[in-house]
Amino acid sequence: MSGAKTELLALCDAYDLVDLFGAHVEAEAPWLTLIRPAEVSNPAKIRFALGWLPKPERLTDYPNLELICTIGAGADGLLRLPTLGPKVKVCRLRDEEQAKMMAGFAAWQVVWYQRGMAGYLRQQQEQRWNAFNKEPAERFSVGLLGYGHMGQAIATTLTSMGYRLSAAVRNAKQEAPAGLTLEAGAEGLARVAAKSDLLINVLPLTEATRGLLNADFFAMMKPGAILVNLGRGAHVVEADLVAALDSGQVGGASLDVFAEEPLPTDSPLWSHPKILVTPHVASEAADAHVLRFAAEEIQRYEKGEPLRGLIDRSQGY
Ligand code: OXD
Repeated sequence: MSGAKTELLALCDAYDLVDLFGAHVEAEAPWLTLIRPAEVSNPAKIRFALGWLPKPERLTDYPNLELICTIGAGADGLLRLPTLGPKVKVCRLRDEEQAKMMAGFAAWQVVWYQRGMAGYLRQQQEQRWNAFNKEPAERFSVGLLGYGHMGQAIATTLTSMGYRLSAAVRNAKQEAPAGLTLEAGAEGLARVAAKSDLLINVLPLTEATRGLLNADFFAMMKPGAILVNLGRGAHVVEADLVAALDSGQVGGASLDVFAEEPLPTDSPLWSHPKILVTPHVASEAADAHVLRFAAEEIQRYEKGEPLRGLIDRSQGY
């Protein structure tokens, strides 16, 4: 690409993406210029955008938009907008460092529950020296809902730590690495739910997965098993989760994502004794990586090469 710089539109109403990523343009992609909507002189010339949670009407201003790259691993905030033109390509961020960070967070959650860390915190208050729960990882079964980029990174980490792992997948065509069982379809999902001591959700949010973690699903889980939600808040029917925790069917839940973020101050989830709340921090990509990934996707697109983060819009992920 030579001559005038390529304009990359900052398409977001939640944050100022120029403030967040602008400082990395010179180092990562000097041929680009990241601009706010108010700085666009000719909307018809905008072909590329960096996007996250734009207002629906924002998309109607750019008739020639071809490619939107997200700043996060999930693209549901864009895909659900009725104003997203059918031909616009959407690429979600794929960052190895972010996937490793997610795997580390998941591993921390698994060890926390498997080794009974909450019990040690209580014991410390009482100055009690009492070792319990020294079971090896092999005796603890972890289920994964979602086996994409994040799910695979989590599986690699947890199998290397010795956990017994199974992952629910749509079809089991792919080869499973050692230590992992792939379970296909709705029956596979039920098997994963029934055998896991702890379930980690990293599914993408689509019309098929919205509300999947509901009363019916909790009833399929091994009684007393733990739910760790690192996917999207809308996967969980919150009232059903609270009921399942109160009845003891679900033994505990760690929630990093919520239907409404920030979690409203009056949400009962904040103070539930069996819920651990974290504010959507399980993983994040470095700002420079976000910008670099988007720039590389644009270059690939211009050269007609396959895009690494391309969403299949018919599937929603
Ligand atoms: C996300 C992210 O998609 O944090 O939620 O990357």
